[in-house]
Amino acid sequence: MALVVIGAQFGDEGKGKIVDLFAETADLVVRYQGGNNAGHTLVTNGKKTVLHLIPSGILRSHTLNVIGSGVVVDPEVLLHELSDLETGGVHVTPAQLKISDRAHVILPYHKRLDLAREFRRGSLAIGTTGRGIGPAYEDKIARRGIRMVDFIDRPRFEALFLARMAEINEYLATLPAGSGFGAFVQSEIDEIFHRYAEHAKKVAPFVADTGFLIDEQWRAKKRILFEGAQGALLDVDHGTYPYVTSSNTTAGGAITGTGLSVRAIEHVVGVTKAYATRVGAGPFPTELKDALGERLRSAGGEFGATTGRPRRCGWLDAPALKYAVRTSGVTTLAVTKLDILTGIDPIRVCVGYRVDGGELGTVPACTEKYARCEPVYRDFAGWTENLSKAKKLSDLPQNARKYLDAMTEMAGVPIGWVSVGPARDEVIALS
Ligand code: GDP
Ligand code: IMO
Ligand code: MG
Repeated sequence: MALVVIGAQFGDEGKGKIVDLFAETADLVVRYQGGNNAGHTLVTNGKKTVLHLIPSGILRSHTLNVIGSGVVVDPEVLLHELSDLETGGVHVTPAQLKISDRAHVILPYHKRLDLAREFRRGSLAIGTTGRGIGPAYEDKIARRGIRMVDFIDRPRFEALFLARMAEINEYLATLPAGSGFGAFVQSEIDEIFHRYAEHAKKVAPFVADTGFLIDEQWRAKKRILFEGAQGALLDVDHGTYPYVTSSNTTAGGAITGTGLSVRAIEHVVGVTKAYATRVGAGPFPTELKDALGERLRSAGGEFGATTGRPRRCGWLDAPALKYAVRTSGVTTLAVTKLDILTGIDPIRVCVGYRVDGGELGTVPACTEKYARCEPVYRDFAGWTENLSKAKKLSDLPQNARKYLDAMTEMAGVPIGWVSVGPARDEVIALS
């Protein structure tokens, strides 16, 4: 049985918390796309752990954690994350973590390219995380990437690395002097190759044919939990292009990013905040650029788990949520951060858009048009009670329950979980 957890907004919906919660009954937790642009926060026994690459099942000792072929892996980040976990008392063995031999590797030149491309875009910059994600996926699609299987084979790695480095240097040399993104000099190239060749030795024990392994587990009727990164509106095909990430964040990525049968997926949980946030550039019609936006940011601790950037905050965008539900086949919603809306009255939800003299009920393909959309709001009465101790639906104030009912109606799918605080146990399971 396979269940996919996806972000149903622009990322940072609280996927890490929900995956950690579900991991209690999962045999495998699998990341299938993205890379260390993700930042997934887990709070267990008052201790906070932020994961970027390693699946959020790692804090449950019985789960096998898999990084699938669709993920782009920065070996240096991976090794840091393993050592940070070790410092925090979590020792990860190759028996607990498997990395696909087909996953592509992020190298220092991808990061420099990422920053250089952003520099060249000027005012049209995407606001990437600068982690080399886009350029690593570009190399993959252009059939010039380096996969784990090549990375851990030193002569192959050397040949592929030097060839690609030479091409990238030709491009970097064309950038204006003083831009800070110039070509790599020979001493840097030598140093990077030797450093990464050492990383490869440490990573090698974790590398496996994960497609085969996941299929075997599925046939053995094990419970597979797919952990999405980013959010549906950042999907390279279905998101607010070009202000997106470079992978398929929607549920289909779980299949293409692992090689498992499409028949395996039975449930898709879409995680959404009770309001909305976005990091980086791109349209966000319900953004609040006023004191209320500031209030959501400070109450919700809305600062990027990866880059520390302040997140843009705003009201829930119901047509965007519905779009996420459709493009991922979401069967159930998990609503997070309901507690942050305490004390806000009225609470507004965008139920449609006004644009170019007409009305629109869904996210348009034209990103400039989406940016011009004026939200049509429906208002809900707020509540003042602290929600963090609520354990069942009836513990919630009536207005909070009405708000959840409206979310169900607007999204067209039921809510299965309501999160009322960052901790593992601050959650209400419905039904
Ligand atoms: P992810 O990328 O989707 O895993 O989400 P992030 O970890 O980047 O951001 C979500 C943030 O909200 C983290 O700091 C979580 O600890 C926190 N969080 C998750 N659920 C809740 C909730 O229900 N209430 C509150 N107050 N915080 C939450
Ligand atoms: P999690 O998994 C929120 C955003 C970046 C930028 C765009 C492209 O924690 O939800 P990239 O570095 O991927 O090329 O940047 O995508 N972005 C995220 N925003 N949460 C994330 O991950 C994100 N990963 C990338 O801010 O706008
Ligand atoms: Mg995050």
